[in-house]
Amino acid sequence: MIVGFWIAVTGLALVLFLAIHLGGVGMALLDPLGFERFATSLHQQAWLPWLEVGLLAAGLGHPLLSLHRARVNRQARGPAASPLRSRRQGPWESLTALAARLIPWSGSLLLLFLAVHLVQLRWHRPPAGAELATVLTVLQAPWCLALYGAAGLAAGLHLLHGAESAVRRLGLLDPAHAAALRLGGRGLALLLGAGFTLLPLALVLRPAVPLLAGG
Ligand code: HEM
Repeated sequence: MIVGFWIAVTGLALVLFLAIHLGGVGMALLDPLGFERFATSLHQQAWLPWLEVGLLAAGLGHPLLSLHRARVNRQARGPAASPLRSRRQGPWESLTALAARLIPWSGSLLLLFLAVHLVQLRWHRPPAGAELATVLTVLQAPWCLALYGAAGLAAGLHLLHGAESAVRRLGLLDPAHAAALRLGGRGLALLLGAGFTLLPLALVLRPAVPLLAGG
């Protein structure tokens, strides 16, 4: 029970980070100078290392606790138990059922992506004013572009199941608010999934836009 609570809390903290992160990196597309100013000022903040420690704890705690719970559940149910199925019907339900089945795979892909992503853009800090150029250099490699796109899809799928599961774990999914919370969770999953899938492509294609318009 307490494990499920912390899986939900760390998951929701990561979702909050992802929403802020999408807003931040979205600025690279809409307002490149504002994005550089934002990145420079962020790295001058004394609270940033504390925030990063919290993020690291949530980023490690969430998958470790989930693995622990999966192992305990497997032992309790036994190998012959069939997976739980939703009784609701409809296209969204099939997609959420698929997202639930793929949760270990989408989570593993996100962890792999994060290891690559942090080495590329966090460990090796670009000089002030060169953040966007560094992101674009990373995305020039086709395998990186594919990995970023796949991570966006994985984030959307992971959240599709995770958002609903988290509010249920925290006891917030009562019948009066269930429909609104379910809709909100799915909307957020769609927004973050589509945003992180399309943004790398949009960033790579962005320099071609003035050339096309001018030519
Ligand atoms: C369009 C896709 C993305 C772009 C262009 C992007 C860009 C960046 C950049 C430039 C940084 C360095 C920020 C800084 O240190 O100032 C960063 C850090 C980070 N990104 Fe992303 N990112 C993307 C997607 C993601 C996704 C999908 C996740 C999570 C699954 C993620 C998780 C992180 C984390 C945890 C950090 C470290 C934050 C910190 O320590 O301050 N990013 N990203």
